[in-house]
Amino acid sequence: RKRCVRISTGSKHGFQSMSINEVYGEFRCGKTQLAHTMAVIAQLPKEMGGAEGKVAYIDTEGTFRPERIMEIAERFGVDPDQACENIAYARAQNSEMQMELLEGLASNFATNEYRLLVIDSIMSLYRTDFIGRGELSERQQVLGGFLRRATQMAEEFNLVVLMTNQVQSDPGASALFAGADGRKPVGGHILAHASTTRLLLRKGRGEERVAKIVDSPDCPEREASYIITNGGIND
Ligand code: GTP
Ligand code: MG
Repeated sequence: RKRCVRISTGSKHGFQSMSINEVYGEFRCGKTQLAHTMAVIAQLPKEMGGAEGKVAYIDTEGTFRPERIMEIAERFGVDPDQACENIAYARAQNSEMQMELLEGLASNFATNEYRLLVIDSIMSLYRTDFIGRGELSERQQVLGGFLRRATQMAEEFNLVVLMTNQVQSDPGASALFAGADGRKPVGGHILAHASTTRLLLRKGRGEERVAKIVDSPDCPEREASYIITNGGIND
């Protein structure tokens, strides 16, 4: 049996391999910055919170920036070009392509030591490709297929899967479900069940941000504050 690995988020928290870790929150709370930070940390030695692995990055919103990777690499004292080379980057334009890209990564995972798979963000393309109540059940079915495959790959290849997610914009709906801090991730039960750990990010005072572990098999519900620096996510 493979041994589970853990990759630091750049703050106090870390995510475990062989499972899906979901990070959700409103716009500009730092989800993409966290994804960039972990894409560098995953490559570092264990003593530095890493897993000495390569990274696969599926970008659904076009917000991946190699220059950010390079800046974050400098914080950790690693070669910026090498840090970029260790990231297999792919941009998905629609939900079908998102699934094809995932499937295509299986050969990367089988031939190289990948430890992190990022999907930033998991729901955005499903939300634009399937519109309205009439297409909701079909959306959830297709989403379920993607999540099953991602879970399977996480276990087979010992990967930390990091998915970012949006929150419902309809205040009525979030109040109704009374999610943590009145914010509810999108994706419904199918995504809720697929995610082993859910981390809620929100803006605090000024530059401060707050992360709250909402659902974790090994951590009680607790909060930690962090800031977004030029070197990525930090305490
Ligand atoms: P959405 O994708 O829009 O939902 O937002 P997000 O949660 O992905 O937010 P993102 O990770 O893009 O965070 C945006 C925040 O990061 C902004 O407040 C920026 O000020 C900050 N940020 C982005 N780039 C840098 C940088 O180079 N240096 C620093 N210090 N902060 C940055
Ligand atoms: Mg983002």
